Amino acid sequence: MLPVMNTELLGKVALVTGASSGIGASVARALAARGAKVAVAARRRDRLEQLVAEIGADGGTAMVVELDVTDEATCRAAVDRCVHRWGSLDLLVNNAGVMLLGPIEDADTDDWRRMINTDVLGLMYMTHTALPHLLNSRGTIVQMSSVDGRLAGPLTGVYNASKSAVNAFSESLRQEVTTRGVRVVVIEPGATTTELASHITHSPTREAVEQFAAALRPLAPEDVSAAVVFAVTQPAQVAVNEILLRSVDQQR
Ligand SMILES: NC(=O)c1ccc[n+]([C@@H]2O[C@H](COP(=O)([O-])OP(=O)(O)OC[C@H]3O[C@@H](n4cnc5c(N)ncnc54)[C@H](OP(=O)(O)O)[C@@H]3O)[C@@H](O)[C@H]2O)c1
Repeated sequence: MLPVMNTELLGKVALVTGASSGIGASVARALAARGAKVAVAARRRDRLEQLVAEIGADGGTAMVVELDVTDEATCRAAVDRCVHRWGSLDLLVNNAGVMLLGPIEDADTDDWRRMINTDVLGLMYMTHTALPHLLNSRGTIVQMSSVDGRLAGPLTGVYNASKSAVNAFSESLRQEVTTRGVRVVVIEPGATTTELASHITHSPTREAVEQFAAALRPLAPEDVSAAVVFAVTQPAQVAVNEILLRSVDQQR
């Protein structure tokens, strides 16, 4: 990661879900490099410990928070832990997600439950439990949506539904809290090189997604974390509501 070089977020406390890989790990590094104390949260503790060590070696501050966002009680415990340790919560990045693509016909509906429980309900639980603290700190909440929250197509139906739900929920939240000082940001990346597609259980679809990505120069996680940093380092009067970003090679 970048060594701590500037102090735009010095004194801020951040919690990043899905920080054990991909975009979440990059966001955690980027926030820590700007001086934030970062709670890195996910299920794979070993990955989180490695990330905390890397951030520490570069002069940043981070701690591991084991979290399964599908379990509301662990969401509450994660936020409590962060506030207890560092005294506040200024920035929640709701990034944890799965993308279990496949056709609706003959779908394994366990995939649907995992997607809705993680991408939608998990994000809602985290938002609900963090909100009193964010109102207190006049903080920011970043919701990791997707270009797939704006468009629908074959093989992506339930993922489209889950990210559309994230967008609708976040716009409603924005209107409820923006004049009380909480900024709500929706980030909508296109194809980004991470392990996301490797978890697809429907094999022909997994291969099709891999072929789609191989035909592009996809975004890097750092391209997405740069958008997050932009959104959360604006002057107090600026609310960045939404950022949609794609590879130049991605048509839709
Ligand atoms: N990659 C893309 O092309 C792309 C494009 C648009 C949007 N996104 C979105 O970006 C976000 C991050 O995805 P990524 O691409 O970085 O994929 P990734 O590398 O697979 O990361 C997903 C993260 O979510 C965590 N996670 C999954 N289920 C969880 C649960 N139940 N509780 C807590 N954490 C959980 C994983 O950690 P553990 O397994 O350790 O829990 C991991 O850290 C997702 O919301 C995804 O929809 C990705």
